Amino acid sequence: MKKIIANFKMNLTPSMTKEYLMQLLARYVDSDKVTLCLSLPYTSLAVARFLLEKRKILLGAQNVCDEEEGKNTGEISGAMLKDAGVSYVIVGHSERRKKFKEDNKAINHKIKVALKNGLGVVLCVGESLADYNTLKTYDVLTEQLEAALKGLYENELENITIAYEPIWAIGTGTTPSAREIDRACKTIRNVIKENFSQKASENIEIVYGGSINTKNINQFKNLKYSNGFLIGGSCLDLASLLQIISVIEK
Ligand code: PGA
Repeated sequence: MKKIIANFKMNLTPSMTKEYLMQLLARYVDSDKVTLCLSLPYTSLAVARFLLEKRKILLGAQNVCDEEEGKNTGEISGAMLKDAGVSYVIVGHSERRKKFKEDNKAINHKIKVALKNGLGVVLCVGESLADYNTLKTYDVLTEQLEAALKGLYENELENITIAYEPIWAIGTGTTPSAREIDRACKTIRNVIKENFSQKASENIEIVYGGSINTKNINQFKNLKYSNGFLIGGSCLDLASLLQIISVIEK
């Protein structure tokens, strides 16, 4: 089973979400080869929950507060997301790490809050261009993963998907080669093995994200160490998303 996580970022108002989902539901047939997950803005969750009822498509959010409760004006808690029908949440996206200064400690707290509230987690990790150019991908992935997963029990990894997202590939149209993605995903599995177990490293779900589109999906559909894709820009065009899904389903 492959996982396709669509990250809509700060796009689609609630009425645009309704329009998009009505078209998606008319054209997409639930599949036993692909789990489709839609990570929508908070304001779109209510309409999406209503429309996705009785379908196998999972509803996701793009962030969660790092505290369970308290004085956090403007934040959304894990319990609120759960009650809104959300199944999983993206944590540690590079846009949040950079622009909103989310560090590994906050990311670790967010993961714990999400899991405690029965939410799955998509944990994003990935190196910058400078790290890539100086061959530090391995070190960066190791550091991010060890810090983010600190204090977790092995069985909690069942509810975590790791998204390998090199920062330099996000929204740029540039991607690593299939070999490089495989190497990075293998590194991720090694880190899981060192910190948890061989079994956990085999079972952990990993997806690749960064400039996946209809033109390049073919070259990545047979990656050896990953289980799917996180798709940003390409999901905004429904026809492109459907085409990518159909390639992955084959
Ligand atoms: P992209 O975004 O597919 O537009 O590169 C991926 C992401 O931000 O997760």
